[in-house]
Amino acid sequence: MLPKRDSIRTWTNGEKAEVHLVELPSKEQQILKVYKPGFTGVMFREYLATSYLSRRLSIVPKVIRFSPRRRELVMSYIPGQRVLEWVLQHFGEPNLKLEEFLNFEAMDTDPRIVEAFIRFRQSASKDASRLKEAIELSYARLHGLGWQHGTCDPRNVIYDGQQVYIIDFDHARPSFTPTKYDYPSLTYWFGLLPGDRRGGRVSIANPIGCGRN
Ligand SMILES: Nc1ncnc2c1ncn2[C@@H]1O[C@H](COP(=O)(O)OP(=O)(O)O)[C@@H](O)[C@H]1O
Ligand SMILES: [Mg+2]
Repeated sequence: MLPKRDSIRTWTNGEKAEVHLVELPSKEQQILKVYKPGFTGVMFREYLATSYLSRRLSIVPKVIRFSPRRRELVMSYIPGQRVLEWVLQHFGEPNLKLEEFLNFEAMDTDPRIVEAFIRFRQSASKDASRLKEAIELSYARLHGLGWQHGTCDPRNVIYDGQQVYIIDFDHARPSFTPTKYDYPSLTYWFGLLPGDRRGGRVSIANPIGCGRN
């Protein structure tokens, strides 16, 4: 029997799944991802990728339970802030309501997001540099295992002030050239360049040839 659980928050961004933050009577918080009909392949891919990677990397959520018949994947909850909200808070216009961005599609067209990320990419502040290094390091760990993420956007990276956790593995797969696939997005969003740990960042506002997710 499934444990009793209360839904605290829901993200309905993706077309493939609804994601809930749930709380058990023990107060433990977990992430419940419920896949929509028609996305069975994606569901199995995410289950396999997340369980494989989380056994090897501490920056990936753990799989707690997988119920394919119910179309449910339960994972550990990562406390922290998505990089989307972190950047809006530090580089966005003052008084932005962060809750408005919880379920948000227009990631690379909304001027409030676009401008905050331009400022973030250009910033050499201590906080921004620390976050960029943390993103770089976590991706280096994933790529070092020979895996590409496939959806490196700021909704899929969580920052706890120390390290960056990577979530959402429904596009992830093993690759001989993981940086080649992921870096267009990492450059586009965060100004990171491949093979350039702690080095010169992209300082232009909108790098050419950027990938999107
Ligand atoms: N393990 C987790 N810990 C904390 N928050 C999570 C976790 N997994 C998902 N989320 C939250 O749920 C949102 C949607 O989850 P995600 O797996 O990215 O689904 P989708 O495939 O719909 O993009 C994320 O942007 C994040 O805010
Ligand atoms: Mg996502």
